[in-house]
Amino acid sequence: MAYQLINGKQIAKEIRLELKHEVEQLKAEGLQPGLAVILVGNNPASETYVRGKIRASEEIGIHSQLIRMNDTITQEDLLSKVRELNEDPNIHGILVQLPLPDHINPDKVIEVISPSKDVDGFTPINMGKLVIGQRGLLPCTPYGIMQMLDRTGISLEGKHAVVVGRSNIVGKPMAILLQQANATVTLCHSRTVDLPHYTRQADLIIAAVGKLNLITKEHVKPGAVVIDVGMNRNDAGKLAGDVNFEEVAPLTSAITPVPGGVGPMTIAMLMKNTVSAAKAIWQ
Ligand code: GUN
Repeated sequence: MAYQLINGKQIAKEIRLELKHEVEQLKAEGLQPGLAVILVGNNPASETYVRGKIRASEEIGIHSQLIRMNDTITQEDLLSKVRELNEDPNIHGILVQLPLPDHINPDKVIEVISPSKDVDGFTPINMGKLVIGQRGLLPCTPYGIMQMLDRTGISLEGKHAVVVGRSNIVGKPMAILLQQANATVTLCHSRTVDLPHYTRQADLIIAAVGKLNLITKEHVKPGAVVIDVGMNRNDAGKLAGDVNFEEVAPLTSAITPVPGGVGPMTIAMLMKNTVSAAKAIWQ
């Protein structure tokens, strides 16, 4: 069956271009959105992600500040830095790259980020707003997936969406956003018994577990839409998702690749959140 390859890279590029125009306008009015990224230690994957975020900011015209901290930093010193950024009028978005070293409690750090600057959408306030349907800053990956589906013309009304993975960053907020868009949502996870039983009923599968080739052709109903959030390394050391693309893609009506699917959307939505955060202060 012919399937549509959902080009996240292209959609993200369009969003970044829209934001670039918006930022030019804001700058002309005297407001330059600013993003501060805190990177603790030198985890290679985090270095790569952070580089992508800084590069995207520069391209769009967002002022960015990369704050590197040694992995021996105390939790209190990190909290002080976040509090300082909360008070900085030139900074509208604060992102603390995860994971943090073991001696630092990420919940404590996230908690001190001002909800109005929480461009990751991770603070309890923004998570709570999402659950009760109030406007706030949304977590970038699920927000990006919603944008991708919308801009691809995939309707969610009355569809059965099965989310695989219950993380705070992706699975949980994803399930809420899909439900708010009138999908019927099933949330599966590592303890789900007989995962294919659920995924085979899905019109839309969101795979967000972080396990290479978890989703195979046995999991997919013909004509389903499959979104792959996984970022794993395969045996050849290449970036690969949670979905066995080769065997699943021909069954689907539309599917995202890895790389070039969800990943670029996450960064685009971080940029969108930073611009939204700046505009909220301006008003
Ligand atoms: N580490 C992996 N993904 C993310 C993310 O979306 N935000 C932050 N802050 N850290 C991450």
